[in-house]
Amino acid sequence: MALIVLCSASGSPGVTTSALGLALTWTRPVLLVEADPTGGSAVLAGSFRGQVTPAESLIDLAFAYRSGGLVEAIPAVAMTLPDTGVTLIPGTLAHGQSRSLESLWEPLAAALKGLDGLGQDVIVDAGRLGLAGSPEPLLYGADLCLLAVRTDLVALAGARSWAQTLRGGFEQQGAGSALGLLTVGDGRPYRAGEAAKVLQVPAVASLAWDEAVAGVFSRGQAQPRRFDRTPLVRSLRSTGEAARARLRATSESPDTTERPGTESTRVPGAGRSA
Ligand SMILES: Nc1ncnc2c1ncn2[C@@H]1O[C@H](COP(=O)(O)OP(=O)(O)OP(=O)(O)O)[C@@H](O)[C@H]1O
Ligand SMILES: [Mg+2]
Repeated sequence: MALIVLCSASGSPGVTTSALGLALTWTRPVLLVEADPTGGSAVLAGSFRGQVTPAESLIDLAFAYRSGGLVEAIPAVAMTLPDTGVTLIPGTLAHGQSRSLESLWEPLAAALKGLDGLGQDVIVDAGRLGLAGSPEPLLYGADLCLLAVRTDLVALAGARSWAQTLRGGFEQQGAGSALGLLTVGDGRPYRAGEAAKVLQVPAVASLAWDEAVAGVFSRGQAQPRRFDRTPLVRSLRSTGEAARARLRATSESPDTTERPGTESTRVPGAGRSA
């Protein structure tokens, strides 16, 4: 149904943790794609503590694309995360491989949106903006791009110019409503609405601050008691609901400007090294 991309501007606000948590609490079949150009599978190394070895990774999709078989390769490369209904396309083994993915992003965005027909949503961990090999065409091709940010002054200062760049990029292609803010740790110290005002990006949802539960997703820590009822898991569910509501609203009243392809869209200033 939708391509949802999570990214960050600075620091490590919790993109990977939030993307995995969202996928695990998503109410429809979902494919999680690790497109962070830093490389490595943070999901398999973190939440699954390195106990699951991927047979293939994103780089195999680049090879498949070159030989004309991208669409067929997606379900073959995707692996089911043990004991979950989530499928995963693991990240590249090393950051150097991300260069080989540059020509993959555009066709991959189109192919992932095509999963719509199979009733499958896609959540992408795009990592930090501006890294060499950053999957910008996926970002700008997304039905919903969530900029993840913490709400302290340092985080907001680091996100401000990237928020402006993203806003400009989305508006340029008539898709301004596809960009939203995901605050991690609402009220620490600023509220989501305050962050949205500073960054001039609409707040879509907010995740609770909970180090113990975040550690389950990011480092495979043991689940605390009443895990399903913890504030973070509940806020992951409400974030999923807010994201789906936003997607419905956008599809019912799309931006009036025609949205061109993503071919020429690049984040200005991209290219700081991984
Ligand atoms: N909602 C949260 N509450 C408390 N801690 C969190 C939350 N989300 C993430 N964290 C913690 O923040 C740290 C960074 O998280 P994560 O690796 O997901 O960030 P990231 O944005 O993907 O970073 P990077 O850009 O380095 O990949 C981890 O220790 C994680 O457990
Ligand atoms: Mg990450």
